[in-house]
Amino acid sequence: SDQQDLSKTNRHRLKDRGIFSMSLKGKVAIVTGGNSGIGLAIVLELARQGANIVIDYISHPEATEALEKQVVALGDQAIGVDADVSKVADLEKLVAAAVKQFGRVDIMVNNAGVETRTSVLDTTEAQYEKVLEINLKSAFFGTQIAAKQMIKQGDGGRIINITSVHEDWPMPGNTAYCLAKGGMRMLTRTAGVELAPHNICVVGVGPGAVATPINLSTMTDPALMKKLDDAIPLGRMAQPEEIASVVGFLAGDGASYVTATTVFADGGIKQSSPGL
Ligand code: BGC
Repeated sequence: SDQQDLSKTNRHRLKDRGIFSMSLKGKVAIVTGGNSGIGLAIVLELARQGANIVIDYISHPEATEALEKQVVALGDQAIGVDADVSKVADLEKLVAAAVKQFGRVDIMVNNAGVETRTSVLDTTEAQYEKVLEINLKSAFFGTQIAAKQMIKQGDGGRIINITSVHEDWPMPGNTAYCLAKGGMRMLTRTAGVELAPHNICVVGVGPGAVATPINLSTMTDPALMKKLDDAIPLGRMAQPEEIASVVGFLAGDGASYVTATTVFADGGIKQSSPGL
């Protein structure tokens, strides 16, 4: 039928544009907080798809070196850069390192994050500043500096902010973290609109509970783990790879029309209801 012919034609067109190709071959990515947790899984996923990677880290250089070797084993190149993302000068260092080593930046993943698990009543000024600077200030200036480089290159790019279900959902006892993630939510939306004319897509990825060092205190307490698992419709925490695969998709051709929004991968926790 005409309709079938039409959809076939469209399929061919989409294929020509590479919509169905998942490859990031030749692309250059920066991953902040790249040597552990979700960041480490993102590094490996982007490398699996062929990207060369700048791995930002602030501690455990040996973990970064081991990860660089894993990237090389996947057939790509990686460099580790010791940079504190709460400092604008260090974010500039990251982008400069990518340009020096690989000539460009196509994908910026603002992933670095910390939490203090303190309430509005007991958070100190130092804790507040640390959480806001490492999570939010880093994403703001990471977006700015990467976008300037992408605009110079002239062919668009992707900025992916790793937020949390807590960009939109209270976590009592973790107030500064929720503030920072809420800020990242609006950074993603606003910068996404501002940068769209440059074909730079800005997307948030909002994980729920993930088996990473940030959740160690819960994971080592069976009673807390049970409480958490019971709150998650899928009944379990995510593995970091289950978040990295979403980032891998959003970095690729198949996500060329996704911007100024957040994609949640949370096992349904944000919609969870006891049904009572
Ligand atoms: C927080 C975790 C929390 C999870 C689910 C994450 O963003 O870092 O501490 O367990 O959200 O609430």
